[in-house]
Amino acid sequence: MIKKNLKINGIPRTLIVSEDDRLSTVLRNSLFLTGVKVGCGEGQCGACNVILNSKLTRSCITKMGRVPDDSVVTTIEGIGTLDNLHPIQVAWMVHGGAQCGFCTPGFIVSTKALLDENPSPSREDIRDWFQKYKNACRCTGYKQLVDAVTDAAKVMGGKMTLDELKFKMPADGKIWGSSIPRPTALAKVTGTCDYGADLGIKMPEETLRMALVQAKISHANIKKSIPRKRKKCPGFTRWSPIRTSRGKTGSRASLPFPPTRETGGTGPFYATPRSSSSGTPLPLSVRTP
Ligand code: FES
Ligand code: FES
Repeated sequence: MIKKNLKINGIPRTLIVSEDDRLSTVLRNSLFLTGVKVGCGEGQCGACNVILNSKLTRSCITKMGRVPDDSVVTTIEGIGTLDNLHPIQVAWMVHGGAQCGFCTPGFIVSTKALLDENPSPSREDIRDWFQKYKNACRCTGYKQLVDAVTDAAKVMGGKMTLDELKFKMPADGKIWGSSIPRPTALAKVTGTCDYGADLGIKMPEETLRMALVQAKISHANIKKSIPRKRKKCPGFTRWSPIRTSRGKTGSRASLPFPPTRETGGTGPFYATPRSSSSGTPLPLSVRTP
């Protein structure tokens, strides 16, 4: 074990960690800074971006042994707060940059590092930066994100006021077709939106966890013996098929899963005991951590 003195979001912290611990794990599991998301865990998506000693850093591939003592770390929680948003966060909300929002903290931290280095980037500079640092978004698309960075840069450079940037309710009060921020946008741009893995860290250790099982093959019936076999899995507590309002046996879930013929790619969906295509969600099983 090693001792590290770090300044994280302006607060001095003394941490006892293993050299091999990932910075993302320490930030999330020890300090509950769950705005640091872990998507791929392999340095390929930028969801875990933090600023480490002024450098944009993918924390999922940064081992604590390589973090110098007295380092300064900024996570999304140190960029802005719910009642004191950074212009980048406002711009993200106004331009609809956060759909599922999982990539959002990583993009916003990345944008902060970009604008610290280049206060007036061109659209091409912005795209190059996101490409260089491997920021990936699989649902919003990139145009809105580039628009958001461009406007944030204008506000930070004094060419636009924050009020000019903020969403304004149309005079007729009709929001259909307007760019009104989604109700969840504020939580997503501040990293305070908790996803399953975040809740898993924050719940008591003995909390039951549910595992969604997906079919690996197409066109198969699930044999009744499968739940019995699952009982042998370590920690297995209960197989939990639920009778849904559609009269089918299945479990209701709302998760961003790849499209299948049954889900159509949108949640919530019903898991059924029959697989009609690879990836079909099967009934939930419940197990301890
Ligand atoms: S989680 Fe770190 S780069 Fe994907
Ligand atoms: S909003 Fe970017 S991955 Fe969903």
